[in-house]
Amino acid sequence: MAEAVVLRQAPDMGAAEFARWQKLIEVRTGIHLPEHRKPFLMLALSSRMREIGVEDYNDYFVSLRDGAPQASFEWACLVDLLTVHETRFFRHEESFELVRSYVRNLLKQNGEQQKRSIQAWSVGCSTGEEVYSLALALHELQDETGPFYYGVTGTDISYPALASAREGIYHLRRLIGLSDEQRERYFQAVGDDYYQVMPAVRQRTCFVQGNVHDLRHAPNQLFDIIYCQNLLIYFQPERRRDLLNQLVEHLRPGGMLVLAPGEVLRWHHPALTRIQNKQCLAFSHRGSNPQAE
Ligand SMILES: C[S@@+](CC[C@H](N)C(=O)[O-])C[C@H]1O[C@@H](n2cnc3c(N)ncnc32)[C@H](O)[C@@H]1O
Repeated sequence: MAEAVVLRQAPDMGAAEFARWQKLIEVRTGIHLPEHRKPFLMLALSSRMREIGVEDYNDYFVSLRDGAPQASFEWACLVDLLTVHETRFFRHEESFELVRSYVRNLLKQNGEQQKRSIQAWSVGCSTGEEVYSLALALHELQDETGPFYYGVTGTDISYPALASAREGIYHLRRLIGLSDEQRERYFQAVGDDYYQVMPAVRQRTCFVQGNVHDLRHAPNQLFDIIYCQNLLIYFQPERRRDLLNQLVEHLRPGGMLVLAPGEVLRWHHPALTRIQNKQCLAFSHRGSNPQAE
């Protein structure tokens, strides 16, 4: 109902105008908007245009197309409206189990645990639940393996999602996916039904804003685990493959890339081997391969 009201106020958009928006958005962000999403695009554009006092699609188009470098903030705001931030703790439990298994084997293989550091990257981390789930999985593993250093980096294009991720404060109903024990051990109450991730875990995380289609600003390091779920869905198959090829450049030899099941088809990379696990879509970098099971 609310959408219909806003749509009525949104200026009409002809086919040619939609086509040029479609193209600009896909070139700059990788996001593909099929024809049936035109009303959704009109809604997103007109809502943003109202916020910044622009009346005409064309004016907004020109400012986005030609307005570098300030336009990068504007692009982030627009992408924010075109994507959803749905996420939850331990969203795909089988993938987290694979991470635990991989790290266990990596540490075993390495032998000198004390000197080992595990670095993970959550690509498209939204409001942080995925980052904290990785951090908790690694933190808890130390009960079994003994201490090792770990760090988890989360990146996303959305400024508001990252601000919320950095705070690490969640309403009780968003803690589903966590056991009671995890909630008690790793969260502290900060108000009615709100809980914050404990500093001991938060201080092992960091959050960085960036567009995944511009990996020049990606974290300048190699990762043992790259975890990228529910982000590729916005992109066309060819873009997905390009992006994955670039992510591999950030994977340490022996590292593991974890995607969501079914997110990419017929993608092979010469440096990677598919991990045999029916419930997960993951690849290990041939190097010193720790063989997650
Ligand atoms: C559906 S959420 C997925 C969150 C988490 N990975 C999960 O699986 O629960 C998708 C996230 O991707 C982010 N995103 C979309 N396009 C992006 C881009 N071009 N660069 C970086 N992040 C992007 C969105 O802002 C959103 O937070």
